[in-house]
Amino acid sequence: MQSLLESHEVSTDSRALTARGDTVDDQKPSRTVAVQLTTDEVVGSAITLFLAGSDTTSTGLGFLLHCLGKYPDVQQRLRDEIEEALERCGEITYEVAMNLKYMDRVIQETFRHLPPVTGIITRRALTNVDICGTGYPAGLAFYFPPQRIHKDPKYWDEPSKFDPDRFLKPLKHPLAYQAFGAGPRNCVGMRPALLFLKLSLCKLIPEFEFKSDEDPKCRGVMIVTHAERIMIAVKHLK
Ligand code: HEM
Repeated sequence: MQSLLESHEVSTDSRALTARGDTVDDQKPSRTVAVQLTTDEVVGSAITLFLAGSDTTSTGLGFLLHCLGKYPDVQQRLRDEIEEALERCGEITYEVAMNLKYMDRVIQETFRHLPPVTGIITRRALTNVDICGTGYPAGLAFYFPPQRIHKDPKYWDEPSKFDPDRFLKPLKHPLAYQAFGAGPRNCVGMRPALLFLKLSLCKLIPEFEFKSDEDPKCRGVMIVTHAERIMIAVKHLK
């Protein structure tokens, strides 16, 4: 935190930021606007990143191990995919982890059933809008509950079935899946979170077998779905 503040004090004098907040080359002034962050803004952003990034990802890993424990055939297929990649490439690198396609679908299907974040997907209407015959005024705040949208039979066949391969087909609606939100204000930490989850699964699944039958007791709060209790039995395989 201290080094972030110190580098911020140096950088605000000499560097320009784009409207999106990216630093850019000084050689291209036409694409830049000067933005000076206050110390409060730097501290606030650091706290937001920490809060938004820690509980979400650990809850997500808990939900993944729970679902793999509940569906042993899915767990075995994932283990086969990881072991095949390990045999082919010798080790799990960033590129290898990012190419585990079945793992992608397992993560998506887990977060469709159990989205780790429930209460913060909100948007404000810029104009008056009509949705299904009901008018809503400009300025009204909308709340998107992914746990409801993810189980809506209008968008998902057999929504309560756990089937990672459903993600082989295109979504019926671009907003049907919102575990990381949607649009330009979606989760900024999606990529590091997915990398962390994939590398964790690559380490854990070949070494351990997970068993789980009882569904986690979830409590919706503003930011993250807290699993009050997830019971998972773990057996060493080697
Ligand atoms: C499994 C892990 C995670 C899940 C499921 C998740 C989910 C979400 C969701 C649903 C949103 C709201 C997006 C929207 O309104 O469209 C969000 C926003 C956000 N997330 Fe994550 N997140 C995760 C991990 C992380 C990590 C690791 C970080 C930071 C390193 C992070 C930082 C943020 C921030 C800063 C926002 C606010 C973005 C904005 O308002 O522009 N998240 N996240």
